[in-house]
Formats: sequence, structure tokens, C-alpha cells
Amino acid sequence: MIVLGIESSCDECSLALVEDGTRIIHQVIASQVALHSKYAGVVPELASRTHLKWIAGVYNELIKESGIEQKEIEGIAVTNRPGLSGSLLVGLSFAKGVALSLNIPFVAVDHILGHLYAPHLETHIDYPYLGLLLSGGHSIIGIVHSFDAYEVLGTTIDDACGEAFDKIAKYFGWGYPGGAVIDRMSQRGDKNAYAFPDPSLHKGDHPYDVSYSGLKTAVIHQREQFQRSETPPHPEDIAASFQKTAVDMFLKRVYAAAEDTGIKKLVFGGGVSANSYLRKSIQSSNGFLTYFPSAELCTDNAAMIAGLGFHYLSAGRFSDLSAGVSARVKRFKKTYP
Ligand code: KG4
Ligand code: ZN
Repeated sequence: MIVLGIESSCDECSLALVEDGTRIIHQVIASQVALHSKYAGVVPELASRTHLKWIAGVYNELIKESGIEQKEIEGIAVTNRPGLSGSLLVGLSFAKGVALSLNIPFVAVDHILGHLYAPHLETHIDYPYLGLLLSGGHSIIGIVHSFDAYEVLGTTIDDACGEAFDKIAKYFGWGYPGGAVIDRMSQRGDKNAYAFPDPSLHKGDHPYDVSYSGLKTAVIHQREQFQRSETPPHPEDIAASFQKTAVDMFLKRVYAAAEDTGIKKLVFGGGVSANSYLRKSIQSSNGFLTYFPSAELCTDNAAMIAGLGFHYLSAGRFSDLSAGVSARVKRFKKTYP
């Protein structure tokens, strides 16, 4: 079954054609990064208006370059949660229009489950496994029981991991998007120049939760306190020390979850899973079977949505024209009173 995937939850306008949930026939990712970079962050209004302007062109390009005829498309999968409401609405409305015009079903799917599905497009992975999602909006440790069943064990109680990368880079004026910039800078820095704190949270009840807000504050406003050497600080040292703390903090919870659940298969997804320090750290730890998506499938892309959507569509699980969007999915981000 050939499925058209549509992803417009943030600043990537992406459409893809995927066969049987595994073979990417073709994918187009039109990134809005250049438009948002002067604000050093995604401007929601600008993002949704740009999706509206671009999406039909991206679709035409996809059809032309894929060599697939529209009549061969058997179903559509579109992200409808979580994300920027205006941007999600553009993708969802476009999906409804194409579904109506081609007289095929569509299904609205969860972006987080999409990220966790991404490595399945490149290799065969049996369930269950620990699904580790690190993106600009989320930081989640959970057990993935099937394409549709994600049991959240821990999540961020405030900022997401990628958000901390982005905000720190923005504060220091290092460039945008912050994750890739900090990753690059860190390669020239001393990761032990600063000993930034890893906050201890509600250990008893929520042992796998993380918090990045305090780390962000420490790096931006209190860094002198955590400096270890007498020599004047280099930006690269701040970047490398922050990156080490952010990644180690997450991995500590991942290893604890692996130990407690007995699940040694680790599947990463989301933009931050492209991070080189994270990948190196995992490779050097023993006893785990680890999967990372390739660079293109770490960040937002429609192939993962089409891949995931195939499983709903082939089981006859469709959405109808009343489907709407949700900016947040409650269980993916905790708030404490
Ligand atoms: O998954 P994604 O493309 O979008 C969301 O769903 O949020 O993730 C984007 C996030 C941004 O915060 C970006 O700075 C971060 O992923 N990122 C990285 C790296 N590449 C992208 N963070 C750390 N290291 C990287 N190499
Ligand atoms: Zn994403």
C-alpha cells in the first residue's frame, strides 16, 4: 500500500510517499529554518502562513519526482498532534482535501509516535523496546509495545532537551538552530570545564523524569559558580560542558529504566538524537542494542508519518472529516503543582 505522509507540525513542510510502512519511495522536506533564523526561534504565525504557501508546491514536486501517479496513492497519514496549532491545521486541511479529491481514506497520527517509528523505515525492529524521544518540544523515556502503544515512564517536567540547546545558543548568540551549533562547537571544547548540576527530582514517584530549566539557568546566569578551571572560559567549553550534562542527565534515567524493566533495546528518535556526544556515549556503553535513525529521519519528516500511518490504514482505522488538531498531548509533558 502506498501512503502519502504529511508533516507540518513545526517548521518543516514535508511530504513523502512510503510503501507498506517500510520503503521510502520519495520524500521532500522544505525547511523554514532560514525564515526563522533571524528570530533565533520558530515564529508560529510565520510558520503556519509559510506552510500554507508551500504545501501544494511540495506536493506537486513530490508527485513529479517520485514517478508515482496520484491514483496509485491508497491512503494518507497526517500529523495532527502535538505541535503548533496553526501549522498542524494546514497539513490536516490539505490531507482532507487530497483524500476527498482522490476518494481515499486518511488517518491523523501522533507526531511523537511518528518519531519513534522512524528507525523502522531503515531496519527491522521487534517490539517491545525503550523508546527515547529527544526533540525541541519533548524529552520522553517510555516502553514502546507496538506502533500504537507507548507507555510513558518519564518525561520532562519543564523545558525539553532540544529547547535548552536552542535557548542557550540564542542567549549567547551562537546561531540557530542551537542543537547542531552546540554539537559542532563542543567538538572543540573541554566538556569538563564546568560541572553543571543535574537536579534531583521527585525520585520516589517519578525516577525517570528530567528537568532542563535549571540547567539552562545555570549555564546562562550562574555559570561562574560551576567553573572548574582558573583560565578564562571559552564559548566552546561552555557548550561542551552543557551538552555533556544535558545528555548524561537523560542517559542516567535511560540506564535506570533499562535496569528496572529489563529491556536492553534502546530506540532513539527526534532532532536531538542526531547529537554526536549522545551517539558516542551510547556506543561506548555495553550490553545494549541501540538504534538511531539516520540524520534526515531524526528531524521532522513525513516519511515517519506515512510509515506509522500505514499500520492504522491497513487495519481500517481511519479518521473522518471532523478530525481536529491538538497543540499538546498531556501525558508527554508533566506539570507539577
Ligand atoms: O524533532 P525535531 O526536528 O523537531 C521537534 O519535533 O521538536 O527536533 C528539533 C530539535 C531542536 O531543538 C534542535 O536544536 C535539536 O533538535 N537538534 C539537536 C541536534 N540537531 C538538532 N540537538 C542536539 N544536537 C544535535 N546535533
Ligand atoms: Zn519532531
